[in-house]
Parts: sequence; structure tokens; C-alpha cells
Amino acid sequence: MDYLNDMFGLKGKTAVVTGGGGVLCSQMGSALAKAGANVILWDIRQEALDEKVAILAKECGDAKRVSSVQVNLMDEESLQAALAKSVTIFGKVDMLLNGAGGNRGKATLQDVKAEDFEFVLKLNLLAGCVLPVKYFSKYWIENKIKGTILNIASMASYNPLSGVYAYSAAKAGVMNQTVAQAKELAPHGIRANAIAPGFIVADQNRALLLNPDNTPTARGQAVLGHTPFGRFGEAHEMMGAVLFLMSDKAASFVSGVTVPVDGAYLGFNI
Ligand SMILES: NC(=O)c1ccc[n+]([C@@H]2O[C@H](COP(=O)([O-])OP(=O)(O)OC[C@H]3O[C@@H](n4cnc5c(N)ncnc54)[C@H](O)[C@@H]3O)[C@@H](O)[C@H]2O)c1
Repeated sequence: MDYLNDMFGLKGKTAVVTGGGGVLCSQMGSALAKAGANVILWDIRQEALDEKVAILAKECGDAKRVSSVQVNLMDEESLQAALAKSVTIFGKVDMLLNGAGGNRGKATLQDVKAEDFEFVLKLNLLAGCVLPVKYFSKYWIENKIKGTILNIASMASYNPLSGVYAYSAAKAGVMNQTVAQAKELAPHGIRANAIAPGFIVADQNRALLLNPDNTPTARGQAVLGHTPFGRFGEAHEMMGAVLFLMSDKAASFVSGVTVPVDGAYLGFNI
């Protein structure tokens, strides 16, 4: 057990988890807290933060190690203020999990609305990846902290998913940025990786994948037909990859990669 703790334990580290009021990232926050880290959930929705902080405190058994900061990541001033506040909570921040994201309906190429496209691109690429890294990396470099970044890519990073083209472009950008971050930040001892979850039912995609009676929609059926495991993923199935990539010991020489956790979806061509 000491060996595993030594390899994957995060005691003494502090993680900020953006989108921490959401389905997937609150559970990632919980995994980090259970591995010993202090965790600060960031989200725009205060009531979601209150709910998730209570859950995490219970799950990790130590309420003192879980906190939250309300933030609008679309607004750089709000982001900077959230980072400054987070640093005061546990004294420093070592890890950034970039999980905030979302979607706005579906549209064919002919029906694209510039305003919606721009919003989704900004939310998932700028607010969900680029801007937090801008301020966290500055803070880490100034304070000589060897920080760790984990971005959340998607199956849409590799090939566009029909009708959600802004989301797909943004998530392709997230994977691309992960390599840029790894390269530019390596001299400072900062690692950047990503995971690309397969299809997990969450708030933002529930209506796309499931009917109100929980049977798969036509699109949900198409996804299942394309997934050799024959099922949607569960959030808890992401956690091994999250802990591996966040651990400076286990993944000390790993940077710039995106790890798919997808039930073999990506490898399936026919
Ligand atoms: N669910 C899936 O199948 C799946 C698959 C691949 C990738 N992802 C990615 O995983 C991440 C989490 O997704 P989820 O499914 O848990 O979604 P979710 O909607 O449950 O969580 C996203 C969170 O981001 C927050 N948020 C939105 N705008 C914000 C802003 N301006 N500032 C701060 N917070 C803001 C929301 O309030 C929400 O709590 C996203 O990046 C998503 O794209 C999800």
C-alpha cells in the first residue's frame, strides 16, 4: 500500500477543478480528494458548488480539504480573482483540471448561427482550456511551482460529431493546445496532458443520448453501435487515467498526450 500511495498519492497537493459543479468533473474532484489532495471546485453555478462540496467532503472523509470558488471563466477578471482567492485557501495551487464546458443545441452546416458557434468555441476552448492555463502557468512560473495540467478533450477532438461542430472544433483545439502547453511549459517542470472521455451520459448530452424513459435516442443507438464495448461509459471509469496523469511520480515523463477512455470507440472503423 505504501508503494501505491507513494506512486499515486496526492497528499499535500492542491487541485483546482473547473466545471467542478458538473457531473464528470465533480467526480474527478472526488477522486483527487480521495487520493489525498486538497480540492477547490470552480463553477459558475453556486448551488451546484454547494451540493458537490458536501458530497466530496463526505466521500473523502475530510471536509477541511474541500472548498469551492464561484467563477465565470468567460471573464478573465473573474478568473484572475478566483485564482487569487484559491491560492489563499490552501496556501498554493499545484494542479489544474480544466473541465468546464458545454454545448448549445445542434445545427447543420447550413444552419450554423455565428453567435452560438462563437459562444461554444469560447466556452470550451478559451474558458475551458486556454485562459486558465494562461493565468495558472504565469502563477506557477513566478512561484517556481512545478504544476500539472489535465485538460478534458473528447471523441470530437479526433473527428467531428455531426451537428455539434463548434464543440468539435473547440475540443480538437483542446487536444492541440495540450501539446503546445506541454512543449512551452516543460522547461518550467510543468506537465500538461488530457483525457478524451468516450460517451458518458451527463447533463450536457443527456437529451442527445437518452429519451425521457432512458432508452437510447437514435443518436444514442448510433454511438452504442460504434462502441465495441456496447455501452456508454461511467464517470468512475475515467478516474484511473485522471490519477495517473495527475501523479508527478507515476507520470513524471508523460506530457502532451491525450488518453482516450472510450470503450474502444476510436479504434472502430467499419
Ligand atoms: N459527458 C460526456 O460524455 C463527455 C465526453 C467528453 C468530454 N466531456 C467533457 O467533460 C467536461 C465535463 O462535462 P460534463 O459532461 O460533466 O458536463 P456538465 O455540464 O455536467 O459540467 C460542465 C460544468 O461547467 C460549468 N460551466 C459552464 N460555463 C461555465 C463558465 N462560464 N464558468 C465556469 N463554469 C462553467 C457548468 O456550470 C457545469 O457545471 C466538459 O469539458 C465536457 O465537454 C464530457
